[in-house]
Amino acid sequence: MNILILGGGGREHALAWAVKQNPKCDRLIVAPGNAGIAEIAECAQLDINDGGAVTEFAQENSIDLVIVGPEAPLVAGVSDRLREAGVRCFGPSQAAAELEASKSFTKAVCDASGAPTAAYARFEDAAPARAHVEAQGAPIVIKADGLAAGKGVIVAMDVQTALDAVDDIFGGAFGSAGAAVVIEEFMTGEEASFFVMCDGETALPIGTAQDHKRVGEGDTGPNTGGMGAYSPAPILSDAVAAQTMEEIIRPTLKEMARRGSPYVGVLYAGLMIEDGKARLVEYNARFGDPECQALMLRLGGQVLDLIEACVDGRLAGMTVNWADDHTMTVVMAANGYPGSYQKGTEIRGLAALKEDGNRVMFHAGTAAKDGKVLATGGRVLNATARGATLQEARDRAYALIDALDWPEGFCRRDIGHRAL
Ligand code: AMP
Ligand code: GLY
Repeated sequence: MNILILGGGGREHALAWAVKQNPKCDRLIVAPGNAGIAEIAECAQLDINDGGAVTEFAQENSIDLVIVGPEAPLVAGVSDRLREAGVRCFGPSQAAAELEASKSFTKAVCDASGAPTAAYARFEDAAPARAHVEAQGAPIVIKADGLAAGKGVIVAMDVQTALDAVDDIFGGAFGSAGAAVVIEEFMTGEEASFFVMCDGETALPIGTAQDHKRVGEGDTGPNTGGMGAYSPAPILSDAVAAQTMEEIIRPTLKEMARRGSPYVGVLYAGLMIEDGKARLVEYNARFGDPECQALMLRLGGQVLDLIEACVDGRLAGMTVNWADDHTMTVVMAANGYPGSYQKGTEIRGLAALKEDGNRVMFHAGTAAKDGKVLATGGRVLNATARGATLQEARDRAYALIDALDWPEGFCRRDIGHRAL
């Protein structure tokens, strides 16, 4: 089978690594890929948000399956173009990806399906939004309705911060993503991520994870795309997972099908868990990054079988084979991230790393140049390891990092602290 993966971060490196282990994979192309991906797959330059260009590329290269990594191509309708052209694609339609692209869409789906989530109100003008904040008081959560690259959420601990957030969003701080504002009840509890494969009707849980969004140790400092993750998430017990499937995931899939936009792909539910009960924080229409890296090391080659079963509507007969193991991924970022950072610094020591099925250095933002590996992004490398215990996985991941020579990069030293 010829497979095309869209994306070029650590998530896509992990997907490529896992898919390649399945004997059904003959040829693997990743667009655009990165220096690490180039070691295990062909990389291609392609505008991955242009459905026409992706479809043409897939047809020219006899691609049998396209796997979409990031949300942007999904929201741009790339999977719809591929399916119309008869190319099998793992990733929801543009209509189904509204679960990630619009916070008020997800809230409406929760209303219709009875899924537990924070109470909310939606506004298209500042004055009534401000009045709502004044009436509710703080803490309260203010969100730009649309996609804002993970930055459109303000958890306000006081009323003034909430009012300022309303003004900022309507003032254009998040562009068209801020044409409407969703104001939510502040939920307390512990957050965890739940990943489910969906074929439109059937949902199959494929793993849990917890990530660290803040840049600094002790979960302090500004938010990032994620500085590390581990799987499984201890807080997401079997009982919480069963409740999540029963009250959140299955009702959502049923409602999406009822609306004529069945959900096909991986659904990532961000949950808030308190007193043994989960409520939905948000959906994403893709794997998390870096959560995917931790999941792929646990799942390995079977992920391709699961992906094919999703695409072909055969999930009902599938099971996931779990080892009783733990994984952790630690992000190395360029000094300065998530603020401004230097690009093009050289990373030494990658070639000498001792990697195997228990330890892999996934690349997120790298490029090869003149025999050197250069850092090209904010999040640059993902040291990912597996162990019989989380502690063993942790020690192996940090050993990979300690074997590197890259003074222009940093990582958090406390990934997994809540679970360890
Ligand atoms: P989101 O982009 O929707 O994942 O929101 C980013 C982060 O904001 C989440 O991971 C939560 O930590 C926090 N958050 C979002 N909505 C709420 C809420 N209703 N109550 C408490 N925290 C929230
Ligand atoms: N790590 C969070 C995300 O992928 O959205």
